[in-house]
Amino acid sequence: MKAVILAGGKGTRQYPVTKVVNKHLLPIYNKPMIYYPLSVAMLLKISEILIVVNPEDKPMFQKLLKDGTQLGMKIEYAVQEKPRGLAEGLILAEDFIGRDTICYMLGDNIFYGHNLVSLLEEAKREVETGGGAYVFGYYVKDPERFGIVELDEKGNPISLEEKPKKPRSNFAVVGLYFYDNQAIEIAKKVKPSSRGELEITSVNQKYLEMGRLKVKLMGRGFAWFDAGTHDSFLEAGEFVATVEKRTGLMIGCIEEIAYRNGWITKEQLLKLADELNNTDYGMYLRELATT
Ligand code: TTP
Repeated sequence: MKAVILAGGKGTRQYPVTKVVNKHLLPIYNKPMIYYPLSVAMLLKISEILIVVNPEDKPMFQKLLKDGTQLGMKIEYAVQEKPRGLAEGLILAEDFIGRDTICYMLGDNIFYGHNLVSLLEEAKREVETGGGAYVFGYYVKDPERFGIVELDEKGNPISLEEKPKKPRSNFAVVGLYFYDNQAIEIAKKVKPSSRGELEITSVNQKYLEMGRLKVKLMGRGFAWFDAGTHDSFLEAGEFVATVEKRTGLMIGCIEEIAYRNGWITKEQLLKLADELNNTDYGMYLRELATT
């Protein structure tokens, strides 16, 4: 499986903050937002990643994450000329994906939870072995803001709606989707919605119609932030700060995950630590290398 992270978009909900700086490069507490989705892919042992970026932001992402070799992985970039919608990333990723399955992520979604990795591993395994699409629902109080899924009493999806005025449920589909290779062809056939975007909900709708969409709920015990507004951005940062200070462990630390995955050596980890000087982040990596 390969991963695609969407890090383009306009970021209008965070204006004026994101007028000139891409939100995925802004800090969620002590690291750029893009580290969080990247770390989720790495926790799933996905080492080939495509980041979809706006044309003007590509050099900054490249400066930050390079080609991934420093983390023992491969990172590529695809330019999205205009933010035409979430489904367009699948089309842009066609060559990168080849015949593989896809972990598709919104760059501004942040996840945390005790069994997060095993929950996601199950989805990954299921799509790799049986195909189809696998998404997650999360209870929200303001369903009008999200793509919403309605479930029957057995937990099977029965309808999907994008930002409904009268939502049929309170379960938002979170920005982390697992797809078989068909998703690319499906995305190519998606027509722009009334707001002029190629909606990811239309891709999911197609899987639903084919009877190939699986939805699992992320219940209590999981934190999910769509960090695309001023408030949710701040809340996500406060959450990360609190958890990191309480547990002494970092969330979304890409260097740590690369090291624990065995993708980089102790020497490489120490070199990455040196690049961070004597920050808490750098010290954390140094300690990791010496314990
Ligand atoms: P959105 O939050 O839907 O859009 P946005 O980031 O442009 O923000 P706003 O609504 O405030 O204008 O995007 C979800 C994620 O997908 C986010 O991480 C940005 C990314 N994205 C793209 O990469 N390409 C796109 O065409 C769009 C619409 C979003």
